[in-house]
Amino acid sequence: MKAIEIRNKYLNFFKNHNHAVIPSAPLIPENDPSVLFTTAGMQPLVPYLLGQKHPAGNRLTDYQKCVRTNDIDEVGDNRHLTYFEMLGNWSLGDYFKEESIAMSYEFLTKELGIPSEKISVTCFAGDDDCERDNLAAECWKKAGIPEERIYFFGKDDNWWIAGEEGPCGPDTEMFYDTGKPKCSPECNPSCGCGKYVEIWNNVFMEFYKDKNGYRKLEQQNVDTGLGLERMAMLLQKKETPFEIEIFAPVMEKLEELQKVDNIQSRRIVAEHLRSSIMIINDGGRPSNVDRGYILRRLLRRMTRHMNKLEIDLDKLGEIIDISIDSLKELYPELINNRDSIKQTIIAEKDKFIKTLKNGEREFDKVANRAKAEGKDTIEAQVVFNLYETYGFPPEMTEELAKEQGLKVDMKNYQKLFEEHQAKSRMGSEAKFKGGLASTGEIETKYHTATHLLNAALKQVLGDHVHQKGSNITTERMRFDFSHGAKMTDEEKQKTEDLVNEYIKQDLPVEKMEMKKEDALKLGAEAMFLDKYGDEVTVYKIGDVSLELCGGPHVKRTGELGTFKIQKEEASSAGVRRIKAVLL
Ligand code: ALA
Repeated sequence: MKAIEIRNKYLNFFKNHNHAVIPSAPLIPENDPSVLFTTAGMQPLVPYLLGQKHPAGNRLTDYQKCVRTNDIDEVGDNRHLTYFEMLGNWSLGDYFKEESIAMSYEFLTKELGIPSEKISVTCFAGDDDCERDNLAAECWKKAGIPEERIYFFGKDDNWWIAGEEGPCGPDTEMFYDTGKPKCSPECNPSCGCGKYVEIWNNVFMEFYKDKNGYRKLEQQNVDTGLGLERMAMLLQKKETPFEIEIFAPVMEKLEELQKVDNIQSRRIVAEHLRSSIMIINDGGRPSNVDRGYILRRLLRRMTRHMNKLEIDLDKLGEIIDISIDSLKELYPELINNRDSIKQTIIAEKDKFIKTLKNGEREFDKVANRAKAEGKDTIEAQVVFNLYETYGFPPEMTEELAKEQGLKVDMKNYQKLFEEHQAKSRMGSEAKFKGGLASTGEIETKYHTATHLLNAALKQVLGDHVHQKGSNITTERMRFDFSHGAKMTDEEKQKTEDLVNEYIKQDLPVEKMEMKKEDALKLGAEAMFLDKYGDEVTVYKIGDVSLELCGGPHVKRTGELGTFKIQKEEASSAGVRRIKAVLL
């Protein structure tokens, strides 16, 4: 079964089970600097998992484009992918374990035709935070999985959260038994030997985790994720995703063009090329920071492995075309973006060839020197200089070093790199002082405080209060608002107290995407209405504030500290100005 057929079957199946089919969010989250790429189907849905009403209802399904780069260095083995598509279905406080498990079982066995005996499942074993998930196990038994194929594991295996903080919960995972022999008598689905392949994860998201621990959410959600490429691989009886129709034509072309055979390098080229195509398609461009740097890394690693295969780099355009052709059925939007994607990739390759030449020469010197001195490690400062002066990526230094039996002090390199980034960030903050372009931690807090102050002023002075301007630096916030008279000391005190009360309540700050007209209907505040397109981002702070805003904001108001008004003065006719600080 081809990937597109699996996707269509999935969306149709859940549509027939009363789920609304929603579009994939972009790979690059809008106005959310806290994550580089969308990494799971649930990510764009967080506000709704926390209780916000979704316009399409409380049963949703979609395919989501995802990039996960924590495994970037693993790519080249037979299963890791940096880009993948996640099929998902959600219950936002609607059905829970029983229905979710019954639907998953039905889809796997009836729609995809996977024999029941090929399926094993795992459930949460229970701990101090959450009880053992006997209910999930019961549901599996009821569906048709016998007890001997139901396993229980702890948080390491059967608890899911995106990162450190957010909605989370126990999960139940489904595994496909490849039929390979057990690697040991104890071999089970949590064993990485390859006998069992994880195919679907249903998370019972009824908790929220933050630095204070776990608390129950107001609603019981289900969040599921099924990796499309992996499922296609299994159903097509292939050993690796590189043999399915998404990668096979590129892999074949690389084999045809290569002068040196290396399957790992072919996989890296095909995989990184696809991720880069998808990232550029969603607006990403190579640069030296954040997302742009990830893209740059992908493209550079791809180029280096083309070199390893001794493929003529002038053939890159042809290879990109083949990759896009293999993807266009899944993502028809690639057809229109073909030219700009090609241009971006080829320009970056050209830039990198220059860098590579200089960098590799320099690296050889460094490596020879280290060896001559009897060292087995290349120092952090040397790695950093290679990066700073020659644009030579540290992971490439590491890879080259490995080839020569040398280690690299990446830990201290990371420190140097972060120091360097902090410095350049400070530089750009100074440049954009007061503008929205600076999004350091302190400014982010002031952004959120601005919303709280706006809300508090409305409470204290009345609904005629609207924001007329704002200016934020790392030292203070300034807020202009419509109000005809000087504020009394009592009004100032009340406003300050109210903002501090909101902070103390540790209210969640939720980000939502919606149509502009819907936002206005909900009564959202908006200062520059014309500035926004039809789709807008709205930030909701508890029940206190609702504003159109590009962000960024803190996750909870508790992070803000103490709010203090320093000054209240006239700004212009009918407009007052408050200067305030967070302590
Ligand atoms: N959010 C869950 C995952 O990514 C479904 O596995």
